[in-house]
Amino acid sequence: MNQAQVNTNINFVNNKQLFIKQIKANYFRNYKNLELNLSADNIVLVGHNGVGKTNILEAVSYLTSGRGIRKAKSKDLSYNSFDDKFYENLFWGVHASVFVMDKTFEIGTGIQKNNNSRLVKINGEFAKQADLSKLVKISWITPQMLLIFHNGMQEKRRFIDRLINISNPTHVGLLYRYEFLIKERLKIINNYNGNKIWIDTIENDIVNLSINIIESRKKFVSEMQSIFFKSDLNEEFFPDICIEITGKAEELLDSLGKEKYHSKMIEILRKNRNDGISSFIGPHKSELLIFKRESKQEIRYCSTGEQKVMLISLIFKHCDLIESIYKQTPILLLDDIIEHLDDIHKRALFEKTSEHNSQCWFTCTNSRAFKDYPVSYKSIDVNKLQKNFSKKRELKYA
Ligand SMILES: Nc1ncnc2c1ncn2[C@@H]1O[C@H](COP(=O)(O)OP(=O)(O)OP(=O)(O)O)[C@@H](O)[C@H]1O
Ligand SMILES: [Mg+2]
Repeated sequence: MNQAQVNTNINFVNNKQLFIKQIKANYFRNYKNLELNLSADNIVLVGHNGVGKTNILEAVSYLTSGRGIRKAKSKDLSYNSFDDKFYENLFWGVHASVFVMDKTFEIGTGIQKNNNSRLVKINGEFAKQADLSKLVKISWITPQMLLIFHNGMQEKRRFIDRLINISNPTHVGLLYRYEFLIKERLKIINNYNGNKIWIDTIENDIVNLSINIIESRKKFVSEMQSIFFKSDLNEEFFPDICIEITGKAEELLDSLGKEKYHSKMIEILRKNRNDGISSFIGPHKSELLIFKRESKQEIRYCSTGEQKVMLISLIFKHCDLIESIYKQTPILLLDDIIEHLDDIHKRALFEKTSEHNSQCWFTCTNSRAFKDYPVSYKSIDVNKLQKNFSKKRELKYA
């Protein structure tokens, strides 16, 4: 779909920097063919349980890089009739016209049969996922995100690293490389004992990466804190949040400085290796704490509603951070957000989303929940969307 960039002025009428004008999904989850035509207004997807509301948000979440709001495996996204022995088609595609600042971009993404890697097209040209994340910022709040605060530290680190990656798109790449090298080091210790030069090089890279990761996380924490300090909106309803990332490696880097930390870590790694110990300190062991600044109450000790309010506060401030860096506010996907919120917080959220500079997408099971929404919005009855109308089996991802 080689459509040129189209200039429009719609955003200035609606004050939206980023919005989806049209989205189509092909063989995606429970949709064989889905097409939604939209304006800059916020969107409320209404429907019974299991009808496909979150699936639509998930399709939208593939308009940026990564594994979407559910972190799904690509093959699970492919339409499955469930009554067949095998998946009917192992492919899926999402296509959208996205208004970004003052231009419209045609974005296509998906996987082809027998190929698990996600393809991306921007205005008909093949592109990288990284190009997509530069073009379109999308953030979300899902019920599953609340579970993170009760899970292990690894899950929590992943959550915060994903947020960091939106403001610093090299961050997750550093982590992948770091984790890969830790595995490589172990392999060499176990299988190629004695190859000193090889392992020295890997340990050197591990230490350098650990410095970059710790510094990138530290920068993020301090940027978020300054955004919270600057805040003036709805404070009484959305509390100030503190994020702390701590660990032995962080302490060491703080106290020694980069150069001495580097030599100390090399020493630690060598000693561990000689003593037959594989584990060592580093950003893969960091502890993450999220708490209310005022009461110091940690998020995992809060009620379900309180946790949701804290998460909303965190994600909105993160949107402010992204806007301050990229001059672009992310599209927000808010899955089942109203659930567990009292009327006061619901009203505060409605106000905040109606003032949000990019399109917000909501899901809910009853449209009555939105009757007091302060600005116009588009309500879509997902129960009535046709899910299986086309028999034509073809992939249209761009
Ligand atoms: N790959 C797939 N192929 C076909 N259907 C799928 C696939 N993956 C999930 N589904 C189905 O999609 C349906 C809709 O799921 P979705 O999570 O979007 O529902 P929902 O409307 O958000 O429901 P709820 O209100 O309970 O959150 C589910 O019944 C699920 O079984
Ligand atoms: Mg849902």
